[in-house]
Amino acid sequence: MEVRKVAVIGAGLMGHGIAQVAAQVAKFEVSLRDVKQEFLDNGMSMINGSLQRFLKKGTMTENEVKEVLGRIHPTLDLKEAVADADLIIEAVPEIPKLKKDTLSEVDKLAKPEAILASNTSSISITELASATNRPEKFCGMHFFNPPQLMKLIEIIRGAKTSDETINAIVEVTKKMDKEPVVVKKDCAGFIVNRILVPALNEAISLVWEGIADPKDIDTAIKLGLNWPMGPITLVDYLGLDTTLSISEVLRDDLDPKYSPCPLLRQMVRAGLLGRKTGKGFYDWTQR
Ligand code: 3HC
Repeated sequence: MEVRKVAVIGAGLMGHGIAQVAAQVAKFEVSLRDVKQEFLDNGMSMINGSLQRFLKKGTMTENEVKEVLGRIHPTLDLKEAVADADLIIEAVPEIPKLKKDTLSEVDKLAKPEAILASNTSSISITELASATNRPEKFCGMHFFNPPQLMKLIEIIRGAKTSDETINAIVEVTKKMDKEPVVVKKDCAGFIVNRILVPALNEAISLVWEGIADPKDIDTAIKLGLNWPMGPITLVDYLGLDTTLSISEVLRDDLDPKYSPCPLLRQMVRAGLLGRKTGKGFYDWTQR
């Protein structure tokens, strides 16, 4: 089946960027759905901010910006969002029950031939697929932050995902001008987060143990490993809550050795979630 219309469920940090890439690069018609008007407004304002950066850089014209915005249709109505979509990408917060409830509702409202994909960063695709009646038309489609710039998409096969579904998502990925990698077996953390999140947790442990300051850890990794952002800045950028959820899934599904550092848990409890709340390890209010 050829994908022409896409619905993105969740207009947050990832959802807004996914909707933008789908409309801007692949030129799909996109519905963007969230549960509150303020979430939709915030998502559309992030899209606009990102498009303005491309405009300022000269990689897009004013007309193109208008066309992209014209292809994105924000809505609070889930039925309206998914009814005629060929592909529905779920990007709601990383809470298993919330994802499953959302996917189960989407499954009932979507056309029978539509493909459902989750942008989960670590939850089992087979488990999420079980919330729907179309596990063969379900897979993981994991974007990286910021989706507008990061070239990779991990495509994850659940236990029942068909070859046809994987092939269709590989095609969509290419239309988005991204590089697909197929994760052959459903496993917590897939490829990137299995490697990244333990490294981020280790960096937080260095702070917790008083071995070095966040700034020095960031400098060390930026200059010593050529990462574009140091690991502590990256945790703030991704969200401490997201990093904690992924650590917990790795610990529960794979091995206790992936347990999150107590400092990470404490900071999440204190609402210090990083960029999205203005403060994490660093102050983001002035940036
Ligand atoms: N939209 C459009 N353009 C953007 C943008 C956005 N959302 N964000 C940044 N840019 C542009 C800027 O305008 C700037 O353009 P210019 O070079 O022409 O001026 C350029 O990107 C660089 O931006 P900045 O100067 O603000 O900052 P940096 O040089 O630090 O780049 C970054 C920002 C691209 C985010 C870079 O720091 C980076 O690659 N960081 C690492 C990101 C990363 O590791 N992501 C993966 C995380 S793992 C993940 O997502 C998985 C999940 O499941 C947890």
